[in-house]
Order: sequence, then structure tokens, then C-alpha cells
Amino acid sequence: MNKTIINNLPSFTKARKRYPSKIVNFKVEVPESVTAKLSGKSFLIRTFGCQANIRDEESMAGLLKAANMQRTENEKAASVIIINTCAVREGAEQRIFGQIGNLKQLKLINRDLIIIVAGCVVQQEESLVKLRKTFPFIDIFMGTNAIHKLLNLIDTKITQNKKVVDVPSDDVTVYENVPVERIAPHKAFVNITYGCDKFCTYCIVPYTRGKERSRLPEDILRECKILVDSGYQEITLVGQNVNAYGLDLKNGTTFSYILEEVAKLGIARLRFITSHPWNFNDEMINVMAKYPNIMRKIHLPLQSGSDEILKLMGRRYTVKDYLELVSKLRAKMPDIVLTTDIIVGFPNETEAQFLETLKVVDKVNYEGAFTFIYSPRSGTPAARMVDNVSREEKGKRFDCLKELVDAQTETNAAKYVGKKCRVLVDGVSKKDINFLSGYTESDRVVHFEGPLALIGKIVEVKIIESRVYSFLGELVNE
Ligand code: 5AD
Ligand code: SF4
Repeated sequence: MNKTIINNLPSFTKARKRYPSKIVNFKVEVPESVTAKLSGKSFLIRTFGCQANIRDEESMAGLLKAANMQRTENEKAASVIIINTCAVREGAEQRIFGQIGNLKQLKLINRDLIIIVAGCVVQQEESLVKLRKTFPFIDIFMGTNAIHKLLNLIDTKITQNKKVVDVPSDDVTVYENVPVERIAPHKAFVNITYGCDKFCTYCIVPYTRGKERSRLPEDILRECKILVDSGYQEITLVGQNVNAYGLDLKNGTTFSYILEEVAKLGIARLRFITSHPWNFNDEMINVMAKYPNIMRKIHLPLQSGSDEILKLMGRRYTVKDYLELVSKLRAKMPDIVLTTDIIVGFPNETEAQFLETLKVVDKVNYEGAFTFIYSPRSGTPAARMVDNVSREEKGKRFDCLKELVDAQTETNAAKYVGKKCRVLVDGVSKKDINFLSGYTESDRVVHFEGPLALIGKIVEVKIIESRVYSFLGELVNE
């Protein structure tokens, strides 16, 4: 007897295809078996990776709440455990394998525990085979496009007592109205696009998250309006490449349109992530400059400072284009804060090409940068390139870049000392319960003393000390 029900298996061939997208209104129905077995019980979700994964966690939590379950952080108290995985680099994937291995013990204590692995790792053909072989105790493998089916997959597991695999690679549907249980009470992520069509040659995301598809503006605005009306202070519009918003709708809807419409709803703080430098146009810059509630901070991945490497990466911009964009942004918004992502050791990157990256980093002067050593991702074009750069050399380049980036981060952080910043108070500091912590408009963490009543409010704080990745501040009495 086959012990696994396979609804869908991942396929990179299917994931590469780009079919027209469709929109479906989802209606949550809680299967009887789920209510009987899990109502009143607890769930735990561990999420790795980007904002898209965090927002997916919120949908999974929303579905489980609809089944009358509640969150726990205690593994032993959980009846359902979900590991929401990230596949962007090999290191991230390896860490997740370690985490899943540790769950076996819990299954021995609680035979009824349902363990689910979701997210980008299961969307990769080879990784799913490896996961199923290494961890036979996992009950459900669920792809990034199967999240809305969570309760039905649990139902199958309970009623048929079989493992379930549901990892579609060619579903181009946008599911609206999936219940959501937001993690933060004052700040919210709102998806505007799913998937990515850029196919940068090193990147696995277009395969694990599929076709780029936009939500309808009215659906986005309805979600944002509810957030504003219920007292949220900050909205971040989320997409792998927000600038491409609307292209697939083919009716002239653009990112600058949705950005402006959300800004007009009157949310105190509006952000977006991530922007591809290639189609960051003047209209977008103008909208940003026009609305003070759009935060002056952009994460603008550079990836490399060499035109040859950018071309091999399929990034579609040159260093000149990138620097021109930075100049335009700074001309319109002199206070704009820029952060970036950079990959070193792309296949066959020469020392001279690497030095060009250092030059661009030096010129732009970032407030922060995430730096990575290139990690081959099976199925991507770059993973098929022969690579003549040794691991040791890549490590050296990484250290060298890190030194420059750290120095910039430190110098730029020091400039805040003595300044007054508007801070959205998140809650009590995780490190010291006598302190509150919050974020500046440029998204930097500040710890300061103040009454609990300030949580969820925007207050003025004077920065008195820089600890590089966070600040110590003093509440300014207004
Ligand atoms: N190797 C190293 N870094 C990568 N990133 C994406 N794919 C890879 C890879 N294969 C980095 C990029 C991207 C960030 C989220 O992760 O810099 O912007
Ligand atoms: Fe990956 Fe490029 Fe898409 Fe970003 S824009 S998710 S790096 S393919």
C-alpha cells in the first residue's frame, strides 16, 4: 500500500513556463476532521528567509486560527509544527535540514504531532527527494502555491492517515481573501506581486515562487484601507520586484500608481521591498518625493559593480545606469537612505571585476549592505557555468568587501548621534525589559526608556549612542 498521497510534485520544466495569471476568491472551510482533532490545540511556525515567506506564515497562521487553533512558541505543546523554508543559498538550506532533523524527537514523544515542511526548499525537485528520504517522519510537504490548501492537506493526513505531498509548480493563481493572522500589531506586509519573471541567472526564486503575478489594485487598496482603519502605522508593499507591479495586468496599472494610491490612504509610514534597479523609473521617484509618508529608504540590490558580471547575471542594467539612478534619487530626495545586496565570487569573476564592485560601493556609500558569496543553485543557468575562482579566493573577496561595507555602515550610523528621529515604537526591547525599541524612518533600530503606553505610537527620540546595528536614544518630550 502506498503510504503517500501525491497531489503535485515540483517540476523546474513547468516552473519555467509563464502562463497568464488568474485571480480566485478563496473561501475558508474548515474540514470536520480538523475541527475534531485540532480545535483548541496549538501550532508553531518557524519561518526562514524573505518578506514573502513571512507573509506566507501569516496566511498559514490565519488558516489555523480559522480552525480555532492558537500559536505557541513551545515545540512540546504544539500539535502542528510548520517549517517554512528558504532556498536562496545553500547555507540557508543546510541550516533548515538541521532544524528539521531536531523535530524527530518530538514525534517520538507525541505520535499525533503533524509536521509540515513548506516554502521554497520543497519547490526544488532534488531537495524534495532528499527531504522525503532523510526525514520519513514529515507528514506534509506543501509548496509556496499550496498554502491556501493547508487545512485540506491536514484533513487528508488525518482522515487517510497518509503522508501528503502538494507542491505545484505551474499554478499561476492569485488567491484573494486567504485569512491572515498578522505577526506585528502596528506594521504590516501587503503583497502586491507574487513570483518573479526576471530570471537573474544565479537566482532560484523564479522557479520556487513561479510566475510574476500582480494582485488587482482594488484588492490591495481594500487590504491597506482595513489596516489604516484598524490603527496600523506602517505598511510595507512586498514583491520580489515591486517595480514590475501591474505589467501582467496589461491595463496600464503601474507600481507608481499603486504606491501613490496607498500613500493617499493616509498610513503614517509606507515602504516597499524589493526594487530592481532596471525598471525604477522617474514616475516612481516623483511619487516618492511627493508623499512624505513614503519612507526615504530604498533597498536597491547592486549585486555586482562590473558590467561584464552584471550581464552574465542577467541584471539588465550597467553600472552607469545604476549610478545615474542613485544620483536622480539623491537629487530629488537628499535625505534618501540606500541599502543593497551584493554577491561576490560569481563564476569566473576576475580580481579586476571584483575591484570594480568595491569602487561602486565606495561611490554610493550605503547605510547598510547584505553581502553574499555566490552559491550555485541547481537548475539555474549560473550553476551550469564552469567556475575558475577558488573557494579561498571567494572567501578573501568576501572579507574584503565586508570590511568596506562595515566601515561605511559604522560611519553612517555615527552620523545619527545627536540627531532627533521619528521612531515607531514596536514594543519592549528583547534584550532589556527596561527599554522600549522601535524603528526610525530609515528603518534603524533604536532602544530607549519610556512608558509602555508609547507602544504602537510614533515618537521623537534623540540618538545618544550608535552601536552600529542599533542605537541608544532618549525620548524627547514633545
Ligand atoms: N548566491 C548568492 N546570493 C544569492 N542571492 C540570490 N541568489 C543567490 C545565490 N545563488 C542574493 C542576492 C539577492 C539576495 C536576496 O540574495 O543578492 O538580492
Ligand atoms: Fe531573483 Fe533577480 Fe527575481 Fe530578485 S529580481 S528574485 S534576484 S530573479
